[in-house]
Amino acid sequence: MEVVIGQSAEELALYAASMVRDVVRSKDHPVLGLATGSSPLPLYTELIRAHRDEGVSFAHVSAVTLDEYVGLPPDHPQSYHEVIRQEFTRHVDIDDARVFSPDGDPARAMDAGERYEKVLSELGGVDVQILGIGTDGHIAFNEPGSSLQSRTRIKTLTDQTRSDNARFFGSLDEVPIHALTQGLDTILDARRVVLMATGQAKAQAIAAMVEGPMSASCPASVLQWHPHVTVCVDEAAASLLE
Ligand code: F6R
Repeated sequence: MEVVIGQSAEELALYAASMVRDVVRSKDHPVLGLATGSSPLPLYTELIRAHRDEGVSFAHVSAVTLDEYVGLPPDHPQSYHEVIRQEFTRHVDIDDARVFSPDGDPARAMDAGERYEKVLSELGGVDVQILGIGTDGHIAFNEPGSSLQSRTRIKTLTDQTRSDNARFFGSLDEVPIHALTQGLDTILDARRVVLMATGQAKAQAIAAMVEGPMSASCPASVLQWHPHVTVCVDEAAASLLE
């Protein structure tokens, strides 16, 4: 695991963006794995700037999200499909039809995980997966206790995650109870992983991920198994590393 410690979120975003740009430049049909949440926002801002000011094109790119709520239609403002559109993809020249998310329609949820795995494999896998990390060490919606071998499936959200995410909804009751999420083993299939984290609140999770034992109690620790992971952190998030 490569750990890059930067002075600011913007400096880390520039570093991460250079890795994404390398993949976008060097491949005919690159596939980007996109995370929602606050951590990757400076990276998306930098990629949007590079598109606007330097003509970096995403016209040949496909993108896949990590997860999706069950029960929110794709155009709901809080569905991850729509969040990614608003925060990144609508600002660049990527084809909307090439942005994929798990199908959160409850009527089709039972085999939605399997269908999403098929989409990922038909795309030829993810070239670079952007990740954030939860304060409890979760990645995507793989909470502590998730199987290290998990593939895309429905998970029941913990009370903690629902209350953390209630800030985006009118009330806690509006936060869906279930989500579809790429599994830990699905995430390991990405050819390269870039994880972004800033702030003291992430320090414990970062230390457990990088230096702790590989364990379902810190789902992100499964990344120790991956040969090409870059962890982009500020000094606060790195503060508990030995
Ligand atoms: C987002 C996701 C989550 C977040 C994590 C950190 O698609 O799957 O695992 O990456 O909860 O969120 P932020 O970046 O908001 O601290």
